[in-house]
Amino acid sequence: MHACLRIIRDEHASLTSVLRALLAHLESSRHDGTPPDFALLRTMVFYLDEFPEKRHHAKESGLLFPKLRARTPLSRELIDRLDDDHALGERRIRDLEHALLAFEVLGDARRAAFTREADRYAGFYFEHMSLEERQVLPLAEKVLTPRDWSDLDDAFLANRDPFGARGPEALYEALYERIAAAMPGL
Ligand SMILES: [Fe+2]
Ligand SMILES: [Fe+2]
Repeated sequence: MHACLRIIRDEHASLTSVLRALLAHLESSRHDGTPPDFALLRTMVFYLDEFPEKRHHAKESGLLFPKLRARTPLSRELIDRLDDDHALGERRIRDLEHALLAFEVLGDARRAAFTREADRYAGFYFEHMSLEERQVLPLAEKVLTPRDWSDLDDAFLANRDPFGARGPEALYEALYERIAAAMPGL
């Protein structure tokens, strides 16, 4: 598999795990009638904010989608919509952060509102990733040239590890490990 496709799929898998863990933690605290671990929820929401916004979306909207647009008129509307989702994501994650802060500061009165916001964000993001995996990545495999792939693979790999163990990618991986350690089964 091309490095570019593998990296996109791996990153989707990490984001999916964190979204599922967030919903599962919320549900178990509701079920037990105990407050959630707010530090854990903040870490998860921070990851969902930083990682897609700063890394994942930039690679898709800045590198992959322009190549697709250059090669085919197919799926233009879909790609436009996914770009719009990337732009909208910023606003949606702010809403989620605000709802979390309200839940932490005001307590149970804001639990339902945060749960609703978390469900909405997760639904939006699951659908977004699924459209990319079911439609955009297969289209890329059909229409991109060997030269396109080598450009994309080089760019994705360079983007992935700019400063080795101390680079931003390592920081996100460490953050993911922290979330995974707090959520056995992630
Ligand atoms: Fe995306
Ligand atoms: Fe994506």
